[in-house]
Amino acid sequence: MDPALNPYTPGSGRKPHSLQGRDREIEAFDLLVARAKARRYDRGMILSGLRGVGKTALLNHLRAHAERHGWFTVRLEAQNSETGARVNHKQLATGLRSGLRKFSTRHALKQAGESVMTLIEGSSLSVAGVSVGAPSSRSTEDTLFDIEEIVEASSELVRSKGVALAVFVDEMQDLDEDLTAGLIVAQHRASQEGWPFYVIGAGLPNLPAFLADSRSYAERLFLYRRIGPLDEGAARQALVDPATAVGGTYSGEALETVLAAAEGYPYFLQEFGSALWEVAAGTPFQLADAELAIEAGTALLDQGFFPSRWDRATPAERKYLRSIAATGESAPKTSSLSISQSTAGPLRAAAIRKGIVYSPEHGRISFTVPGMASFIARQIDTDS
Ligand SMILES: Nc1ncnc2c1ncn2[C@@H]1O[C@H](COP(=O)(O)OP(=O)(O)OP(=O)(O)O)[C@@H](O)[C@H]1O
Ligand SMILES: [Mg+2]
Repeated sequence: MDPALNPYTPGSGRKPHSLQGRDREIEAFDLLVARAKARRYDRGMILSGLRGVGKTALLNHLRAHAERHGWFTVRLEAQNSETGARVNHKQLATGLRSGLRKFSTRHALKQAGESVMTLIEGSSLSVAGVSVGAPSSRSTEDTLFDIEEIVEASSELVRSKGVALAVFVDEMQDLDEDLTAGLIVAQHRASQEGWPFYVIGAGLPNLPAFLADSRSYAERLFLYRRIGPLDEGAARQALVDPATAVGGTYSGEALETVLAAAEGYPYFLQEFGSALWEVAAGTPFQLADAELAIEAGTALLDQGFFPSRWDRATPAERKYLRSIAATGESAPKTSSLSISQSTAGPLRAAAIRKGIVYSPEHGRISFTVPGMASFIARQIDTDS
């Protein structure tokens, strides 16, 4: 098929041709927006799930919806690198400034936004350049206080327009302690005071536990949604719809074969769909095209999706990951791994920090990346 028309979107956070199977989350958010118009405010929302399941695409979709309704929105992608805390603070400050500017223009607020802008610019969040305090002099209390103050002042502004302020945080499990606490505390105040303020977060399956570790009441502050693989109908549409839009059709066999291989995971559906488009000589796509596409698509996943995590692990960490894969279980007991418990501890912590594994329940460990165990099995062990 003509590569220029390839309608699939494999990659990170790329907007799919059609966002399938997320109606419940979208409806819940639509309701939030509708209720804000009537000055009724709900809890924030937390989306958690495995790698490549479509959290970022969904988060971006919700934000676009809020923007269309004239909300004051901010987006940040948390980082847990050495400079992570600094980057996160800066992203929040910059996001607040540009979000406010957009909001003020949209609602033709000439003066009203000025005082909030002054607050943001003078806050400890605004490190680098416009800051009053150097990052080293910034304390947790400053962050908590500043966020609360900005949220309170913004609330007055947005309430008058029947909208809300929402901070969309992607990879939220990587947020530094200060900002995590700051956002949770602000959400807590908002629920008590009736402020139109929402934190909408997305991250790995350990995100709910991560938030509860910061403040135990976080459990009651948010609507938690687990984002999983697409059900069969949605997965089918995710393959068929984009192709149909540009004149491609599937034979029954080809469709079933790709569906079975992707197991409902959006990333895999996009990668296999895209590969199918590349290999097929014409339409309808045939079984042989599908088989070739799965092979080619898997090779692409092995070059991109999987190594983007695997290559971040040290040889010792990779050994630990191999020991998880070797059990053949999706959530083995940590005590059942072939690696000694004392060596495993720090390796486990490092792999969690790097977002490769998480603990689905006490004493168990799982990959955050669907299909990781099979990927590991395909790798030649050059570490030992
Ligand atoms: N609901 C959906 N229907 C069809 N395709 C989707 C859907 N959601 C996401 N996708 C596609 O799946 C891929 C992965 O999406 P996305 O990057 O949003 O996942 P993620 O959960 O944020 O992954 P990560 O944890 O690695 O950040 C992208 O190619 C995207 O276009
Ligand atoms: Mg993402």
